Amino acid sequence: MSPQFISKVKRTHSCGALRASDIGKDVVLFGWVNNRRDHGDLIFIDLRDREGLTQIKFAPSIAQEAHDLAEQLRPEWVIGISGKVASRGTQFSKKENKEVSAANPNLATGEIEVYVTAIEVFNKSETPPFEISEHISANDELRLQHRYLDLRRPPLQKALITRAKMNAATRSYFVDNGFLELETPFMGRYTPGGARNFLVPSRLNAGKFYALAESPQLYKQLFMVAGFERYFQIVKCFRDEDLRLDRQPEFTQIDVEMSFVAQDDIFGIIEGLLKRLWKEVHGLDIPTPFPRLNFDESMEKYGNDKPDLRFGMAHVTLNKVIEKFGAEGGVAPMWEAIQQKGGLIKAFVVSPVQPGQHDQSVVKAKEEAFRRANPNQTAKVPPPPHELTRKDIEETEAYVMGMGAKGLARAKIAENGDWTQAPLFKTAKPELKQAILDATGAKPGDLILFQFGPEAKVHTVMANLRVYLAKKLWLIPEYGSGGKWNFLWVVNPPLFEYDEETKTWAAAHHAFTRPMDECLKYLQPESFDPAKVYCYRYDVVLNGFEIGGGSIRLHNPETQSLVFKALGISDEDARSKFGFLLDALKFGAPPHGGIALGMDRLAFLITETESLRDVIPFPKTQKGTDLMTGAPGDVDEKQLRDLYVKSTPPQK
Ligand code: AMO
Repeated sequence: MSPQFISKVKRTHSCGALRASDIGKDVVLFGWVNNRRDHGDLIFIDLRDREGLTQIKFAPSIAQEAHDLAEQLRPEWVIGISGKVASRGTQFSKKENKEVSAANPNLATGEIEVYVTAIEVFNKSETPPFEISEHISANDELRLQHRYLDLRRPPLQKALITRAKMNAATRSYFVDNGFLELETPFMGRYTPGGARNFLVPSRLNAGKFYALAESPQLYKQLFMVAGFERYFQIVKCFRDEDLRLDRQPEFTQIDVEMSFVAQDDIFGIIEGLLKRLWKEVHGLDIPTPFPRLNFDESMEKYGNDKPDLRFGMAHVTLNKVIEKFGAEGGVAPMWEAIQQKGGLIKAFVVSPVQPGQHDQSVVKAKEEAFRRANPNQTAKVPPPPHELTRKDIEETEAYVMGMGAKGLARAKIAENGDWTQAPLFKTAKPELKQAILDATGAKPGDLILFQFGPEAKVHTVMANLRVYLAKKLWLIPEYGSGGKWNFLWVVNPPLFEYDEETKTWAAAHHAFTRPMDECLKYLQPESFDPAKVYCYRYDVVLNGFEIGGGSIRLHNPETQSLVFKALGISDEDARSKFGFLLDALKFGAPPHGGIALGMDRLAFLITETESLRDVIPFPKTQKGTDLMTGAPGDVDEKQLRDLYVKSTPPQK
């Protein structure tokens, strides 16, 4: 007869709690059968719950009935047991030819085991489609179809527990700093600009649609107009974008807005939050304030506005060098590239990597992987890469061509100063080569890589190439921090972007960002020059990921109208698009600004998991589908008629 577990006999400990100090206690544990080992009369089971594993032991001499039942237990059955905590004692080691401790040093509960006196099976389980363990080889599709089982695995449990802690710490931080958590609607009116919205048809208003909020941007500004001063919200946002490694169609922001603040005040609040989160999760004191980098400098040195500063290989622009020599320089393709409008030539130097400069986490991981693949003890672990081999360079060329580059121009500087592997420079003047060495700082033994062509393409290729090579040379890990957390603010970007296709100026972020005071003159008709208008916008970047972005807003209707004019938006147009916000700004809107952090990205980076999906309980695939529920799915004709909607998918 088993005791009445759950109703009468309550759990006393989690499966991660018991230690040597608990030896002799009577305990009750509930959990899942992780695995079973039969040793003749004795049966051992690792019992698992979200806190860990505890070894439980069944012996006929202690409880015959429990032992009989234990013989039937299978992985993932859910059971309750009661028993006594005991030391794992000693066992005979053949290797050492003596009795040694039987404790498992790799397990928090490894010093003890529980002798079971009673057991109840709460539920049986079918054989799971994949093993519930730390490392598995099951494919993504199978794991996503059975997400509730994947979520039982320790790494995902750990990641989501960390994310829950981050939510709690975030709320407590903002409350401590006088912020109010206020809610905003998910269903709003469609406003143009920004990301593509998901639309929701209205049954009560035939032919009309709500848009799902891509962020609470306009509402949080209205909270400032309403006088709430300090707002935050951990909020879902919805964007119908093409998905990438760091994007999901629904994701979570830590959204913030503050009144009576300058940029520095917002930076201080966000740095404080990130400090609190890293302390909570890693026990680390991250240094603040974070360094700041101008947007233009970031583009010039790294080709994007979210540089990974854990390693060097900064870019150098060579337009001036090539211009100085002109056609006489002897590098015709480069000279021709900068004859085109917006033509750009960039280079960076890849120096041999010295022992000790490699990321030690990569060295360790590669060694472990090698040992697993070569259990033969005598096999020698290959050393970390010193420089790019010819094969590496060929792979790298294929990689850049995959991004649309024409090739990978390069020059290897030999010990005697000769340029090898450099067909592009066969006819180059020695003075031009020297000027390139001076500009890039390249020394004998180094490799210089080049790209030239339209600016945007060169930036993208060079930015990705820099990160690709850092991984290839083991300067940073494939994913994870490698113990380096390089935070930075990217500041002072231009307010407008010129669209070459439509020949118009567009808002680089959104139309409510405040221009820098000293740039206001370029919005006036007499000195109109949108390219010179920089603004109070900022992104916070961690190890090459944009983890947040925001701006100081326009609160003054006159400047707002100048910005609309520069964007070619008429007063009428502005009214029809953003009327309610423009009205609100007329009624004493305080100066205000804010920011939103991407919670999923933060959790993904802080937990050093492999994919953004690992920190989202029920994520979507790259195609925006949910393989477990089958969303998005079909609906019947009547449902569509009720919504006044017709579905017209393309005929297959
Ligand atoms: P922004 O569009 O820059 O700003 O978004 C803020 C942060 O949200 C994260 N993020 C995403 N994370 C996962 N999947 C996505 N599809 C996705 N899109 C964005 C990024 C990004 O830095 N309202 C403004 C903020 C403001 O100005 O206050 C906004 O939404 O980490």
